[in-house]
Amino acid sequence: MPDSVVLPATLQTALQTAEQLLWDRALVRYHDQWAGAIAALPEDQELAAANYREIFIRDNVPVMLYLLLQGKTDVVRDFLQLSLSLQSQALQTYGILPTSFVCEETHCVADYGQRAIGRVVSADPSLWWPVLLQAYRRASHDDAFVHSPTVQQGLQRLLAFLLRPVFNQNPLLEVPDGAFMVGRPLDVAGAPLEIQVLLYGALRACGQLLQYTEAANAAHVQARRLRQYLCWHYWVTPDRLRRWQQWPTEEFGDRSHNPYNIQPIAIPDWVEPWLGESGGYFLGNIRAGRPDFRFFSLGNLLAIVFDVLPLNQQGAILRLILQNEAQILGQVPLRLCYPALTGSAWKILTGCDPKNQPWSYHNGGSWPSLLWYLSAAVLHYQQRGGDRNLCQVWLNKLQHYHTQQCEQLPGDEWPEYYEGQDSVQIATRACRYQTWTFTGLLLNHALLSQPQGIQLLSLRGLP
Ligand code: GLC
Repeated sequence: MPDSVVLPATLQTALQTAEQLLWDRALVRYHDQWAGAIAALPEDQELAAANYREIFIRDNVPVMLYLLLQGKTDVVRDFLQLSLSLQSQALQTYGILPTSFVCEETHCVADYGQRAIGRVVSADPSLWWPVLLQAYRRASHDDAFVHSPTVQQGLQRLLAFLLRPVFNQNPLLEVPDGAFMVGRPLDVAGAPLEIQVLLYGALRACGQLLQYTEAANAAHVQARRLRQYLCWHYWVTPDRLRRWQQWPTEEFGDRSHNPYNIQPIAIPDWVEPWLGESGGYFLGNIRAGRPDFRFFSLGNLLAIVFDVLPLNQQGAILRLILQNEAQILGQVPLRLCYPALTGSAWKILTGCDPKNQPWSYHNGGSWPSLLWYLSAAVLHYQQRGGDRNLCQVWLNKLQHYHTQQCEQLPGDEWPEYYEGQDSVQIATRACRYQTWTFTGLLLNHALLSQPQGIQLLSLRGLP
């Protein structure tokens, strides 16, 4: 969709409305600087009382990327600066960035989990921060900011946290349930894919941004170990699945084929037909005896964008999604994960969470804000020289889904998510005027119009 193309009126109106919501109502200022965008613009008192009026770092990812593509680098710099000033100095969370913050008259109050379910502090904001800083640097060439002592110290503190000693030998980052976009119990504790892929991005970005060579090298070495680990332990293909089904169990020693002691019977029945003959994807989580075979969209798509996988395997993920289009994209793209936890698994693993009912919210709900990640993955794959036919099919589909969103989202009041397995509807509990829903649309449009924009997120090539 080149810039010169005249857009149909519905698309134009949707984009204009989204732009107005972003600038007039979502982005807020703190003193004489930009603070970031609040998560939603709820009219509803109940939602306003929840933390949706706070500035979530993760919800600002599409906002900041969109602003960079619009040349508004000053807003992004202010946001990066303010969020870094909130980096935790407390003993247990030293170096971590908050999940969200709210700016009052004289200071900003950050949430390190003290207000969240389970009192968990999110891991993803700390991992996104260096990735966003790298994107900012690519867009602005502002080396002075990146090399300033405050930023360099912040990066070092963050890296020290990521490389701290832990109780295992693997390069993964272990987190409790609810430490990322999925902010409540969904059996994602351990080493969930999204966190590992973001960790890879953060390590690569730290390696490129840190001036202190020893720290930069340590980040690169760990990133390489992590990539190898993910490709070995998380990657599933039909072939690998067949091998896993024949794995020996109860092996002891450092040459074990099955170090996680996974029993073949623990592999769910749906996986084999769903994979088909040419698909492949990263598992949701690897844990001793209990691998999580669910497909998590964000982790898999970011694995493409960050080049955690070689090109042919990136293509395998895109083929898999295409093959299961009805289940993953459905009527309102994109499902957060597939399949949902149902029955007794839902009862036990979510604690009967009414918000995470099967096929709703995080538990297989459909999030319009995830569509831009799919565009980013396809465009990245295309620019790296991926399979032409596959790219063409995807580009047509992306156009179609983007147009559909432009037609649907304004009338639906930009909901946070949709629910339902077959017939998907606006979720009764969903927040309206959700910032990453309308900014996701703007970013998706910007990426489809200027595909080179995706290079902002590239972690290839050292500067
Ligand atoms: C919910 C979501 C989380 C998001 C927050 C604000 O808690 O689970 O991912 O950041 O809302 O939109």
